Amino acid sequence: MLPTTITREFVKGLPKAELHLHLEGTLEPELKLALAQRNRVDIGQTTIEEVKRSYQFDSLSSFLQVYYPAMNVLQQEEDFYQVAMAYLYKAREHNVRYAELFFDPQAHTSRGVAFQTVINGYHRAVRDSRTLGVETALVMCFLRDMSAQSAADTLEQALPYRDKILGVGLDSDENGNPPGKFREVFSKARQAGFHLTMHCDIDQHNSIGNIREALLDIQVDRLDHGTNIVEDQDLVAYVRDKGIGLTCCPVSNGFVGDMKGREILQLLRAGVKVTVNSDDPAYFQSYVSDDLFALAQHYPMTPAEMVQLARNSFQVSWLPAVRKAAYLKEIDDYVAGY
Ligand code: HPA
Ligand code: ZN
Repeated sequence: MLPTTITREFVKGLPKAELHLHLEGTLEPELKLALAQRNRVDIGQTTIEEVKRSYQFDSLSSFLQVYYPAMNVLQQEEDFYQVAMAYLYKAREHNVRYAELFFDPQAHTSRGVAFQTVINGYHRAVRDSRTLGVETALVMCFLRDMSAQSAADTLEQALPYRDKILGVGLDSDENGNPPGKFREVFSKARQAGFHLTMHCDIDQHNSIGNIREALLDIQVDRLDHGTNIVEDQDLVAYVRDKGIGLTCCPVSNGFVGDMKGREILQLLRAGVKVTVNSDDPAYFQSYVSDDLFALAQHYPMTPAEMVQLARNSFQVSWLPAVRKAAYLKEIDDYVAGY
C-alpha cells in the first residue's frame, strides 16, 4: 500500500531508472585524488577538503570550469572502468534498476586519450553492472562548445562501437551553441540507429527557442532538463501528446538557482513524462533518491506522484517494451508489499 507520507526510506527502495547521469560527474573526491596520485596528475588539490572547497558554482559555466579540468585524472581504461563501477555501487544502494549513462568522449580525446580507451573502460562496467543487479547502457554526448565538425568526427569514431552505445546527447555550455548547430550530426546519428536526446539547460539565453528547435527541428526523443518548456503551452501539449520525456535534476538546478520544483510538478500534473535524476552526483552531493526526496521536502506532493515519477523513468527510457513492463511490475509489487 502507498504510505501516507513520503519517507526517505520509501523513496530509496522504490525501483527506478536514472536517465540523466554524467559518468564524469560521478567522480567522487576520494577517487579523484587516488587517480591523480596513480597517474601523477596535478589537479591543484591534495586533500578531500580542498577538492570539496573547489566545488563552488553559481552558473552552468562556472560549474563546467571546475568539472572539465578534473577529468585529467582519467587516463587509462582501468580509470574509466573504476569511476563507472564506483557509481554502479551507489546506484544499487538507491535501487536504480536501470541507468542510461552519459559520457563525454571529446573531454578525453581532446587531451590525447584514445576513444577506444574510454569506450572499452566504460563498456566493461556496463557488462559487469549485471553482476550488481543494475542494467545499464551508454549514451554518448557531444560537447556543444566544440565544433560541429568535431562532433561529426566523434560520431565516426563511435560507429565501430555502435552495439555498445544506445543513444547520443549534447551537453556542456549552451550559451551561443543552439541545437541547430548540430542538426547534421544528429540526423546522421538517427540514421545510424541511435536514440537522440539533448540538454536544454535551465534559464539559458533563448531557452524556449532552443527547446522548440530540439523538439521540432532535430526531433529528439527526450530532453535533458528542459523545464523552461512551461513558457510555451503548445510545446507542453506537444511533449505530453508524444510522450517525450524530460529528465530533470532538481538538486543540480538548486546549485545555480532554483530547484525548479514548481515547474517539475506542474509538468507532472499536466501529464508530461517528467523524471527526476542526479546529473553530476559527486559534484552536487546528491544521488537520485536524494533528488527525489529533496523535491518532496521542498514542494508538496503526494506518494502517488512520487511513484508516478519512478514509473515515468522506465516509460521514457530506451528499454524494449518487455523490459519496461517488467520494471513497472517491480514498482507495482513494491507498492503492494509496502
Ligand atoms: N549541463 C550541461 N553540461 C553538463 C551538465 C549539465 O547539466 N552536467 C555535466 N555536463
Ligand atoms: Zn546534465
